Amino acid sequence: MCGIVGYIGKKQALPILLQGLRDLEYRGYDSAGVAVLDNGAIDRVREVGKVDKLTQKIGEKKIQGTVGIAHTRWATHGGVTEFNAHPHIVDGKLAVVHNGIIENYRELKIKLEKQSVKFESETDTEVLGCLIYQEYKNLERSGMKPGASDILRDAVRAALLQVRGTYGLVVMHKDNPFELVAARLGSPLVIGYGEGENYIASDATPILPFTKRMAFLDDGEIAVIDLGTPKISNLNNELVAKVLSNIDWDQAKAQKGGYADFMLKEIFDQPMVFEDALRGRLNMDEGTAVLGGLNMTHEQMREIKRVCIIAEGTARYAGLVGKYAFERLANLPVEVDYSSEFRYRDPIVNKNTLVFVISQSGETADTLMAAREAKRKGAFVRGIVNVVGSTIARETGAGTYIHAGPELAVASTKAYTNMVAVLILYALEFGRLKHTSLATGQRVLQALLEIPEKMNLVLKQNDAIKKIAEDCKNYKDVLFLGRGVNFPVALEGALKLKEISYIHAEGFAGGELKHGPLALVSSDVPVVAVLSKDQLYEKMKSSIQEVRARGARTLIIATVGDEEAKEVASDIIYVPDTMELLEPLLNTIPLQLFAYHMAVALGRDVDRPRNLAKSVTVE
Ligand code: AGP
Repeated sequence: MCGIVGYIGKKQALPILLQGLRDLEYRGYDSAGVAVLDNGAIDRVREVGKVDKLTQKIGEKKIQGTVGIAHTRWATHGGVTEFNAHPHIVDGKLAVVHNGIIENYRELKIKLEKQSVKFESETDTEVLGCLIYQEYKNLERSGMKPGASDILRDAVRAALLQVRGTYGLVVMHKDNPFELVAARLGSPLVIGYGEGENYIASDATPILPFTKRMAFLDDGEIAVIDLGTPKISNLNNELVAKVLSNIDWDQAKAQKGGYADFMLKEIFDQPMVFEDALRGRLNMDEGTAVLGGLNMTHEQMREIKRVCIIAEGTARYAGLVGKYAFERLANLPVEVDYSSEFRYRDPIVNKNTLVFVISQSGETADTLMAAREAKRKGAFVRGIVNVVGSTIARETGAGTYIHAGPELAVASTKAYTNMVAVLILYALEFGRLKHTSLATGQRVLQALLEIPEKMNLVLKQNDAIKKIAEDCKNYKDVLFLGRGVNFPVALEGALKLKEISYIHAEGFAGGELKHGPLALVSSDVPVVAVLSKDQLYEKMKSSIQEVRARGARTLIIATVGDEEAKEVASDIIYVPDTMELLEPLLNTIPLQLFAYHMAVALGRDVDRPRNLAKSVTVE
């Protein structure tokens, strides 16, 4: 996720900003930049790659000044280039750094272009900067003096009232050289209160070396940060009194947002990043999705006769959920394959085949080679990727980013849920061109919009899941069962457990039990079963009864209100009801937490499990 740091005070800003950027490196980024205001001029340096490269580029350049902002960028709109890196500068006067996504930036850009505004980058952030700059000029025209107190804050407010999306932003303006203005909606910002100096950052990490007194901005708040006490108001221009917190985290804890590990943080990130996966992609009126990156005409979409989904590991399990969605909503046959198998067999793909290659990192060697193979054979190849500008994203040239933000733990969690979200959106977009009704489309969209809130309800059961996991830590084998759309959930639950706890785990389809796996079941082998209130409920319940009859302890993931499920449960976790196709988005979360807590209880290095790498760039 992008990182922000800003400083205003009496010290030289540059060293503080560069150190702050280094402290934010853990968040993952692809470019970095810094802007310092001095003597009525803004000095800016940006560079693709690491902060060290930025520092080298600055070299001996004398960047003086006691006010400045800096940023590490994780690309969302526009490729990884210096032009797209932040801070963006408008007319040499205003500098802006921004985290989040401005949903309506295209409309705003067109509006600004009509006012002869010129853009240097492909980013939504530059559009936001230009909008603020225009509002500043409007205020001047209405009689406010440049540099007047409140003019920058009012310009920011006026711009934000036109914006749809999320932001954590900081701006500085050369005519208001003694203040920074910051605002937040959906993207965190923390102010550090010093003596005659203040700090702002996207999390506490870069501020901790200087002060422990901090205030977290809430959504809809704007802060004017000068040398005195920061003044915070809301979008209605009412002053807000902030309660200061004394943050005594160490740096490492701060980097993880207060969580013990990146994996736990990333599990808890899911409701937030899920919203990013949906943002700007739902068309409620038409009951469909709008995924710009598909680059296919409706005619071409209707000509597709078959879908292939190629991926590895967790991405492939997300693909398996996608299969159910495509078959049900788009009425298209779907094959899901391991990339490593696809590339070495004789896959039957042609111009009527749509091939999705799914990858968090966008660098998985087998998936990349499989994409090339499918392209060579004339299929439409589309990427579903997290890392912007990664090799798979570039080579497929079309497709969709899942907007999960950087995933640092080796075990994939938030990328999985966002991959599933994007696949469901694609299935709906195809379905609405064929047999899926408007009403069904709208129901799917509505159900998707409710998912983040429901994810939060699942996450609230973290303590209960932790207790169960601690209780189970001495088992040597664990089986996972699911049916229908929850079969891939069982597979993913088993993968999570084995990769971070090193406990042997396997996932099975409930109906397959009697065909072999039942022989493994005993009182020494607990069974985790997903028992959602859907069309396969009764069948799944009888599978669970079979394992209980053989003495297995059962952890049941059931639907809220299902009292009957208790009959077959040694332990039970309830998740909210949703549409059947969307159940994996909720049911996977308790299994992620179960794996996490088992691994912690066993003293494993959760974020860096043995023998595994985050990105598998070799065969
Ligand atoms: C997931 O927890 C794993 N670490 C692994 O299976 C991963 O999903 C797989 O290697 C694919 O990676 P990708 O999404 O970056 O292509």
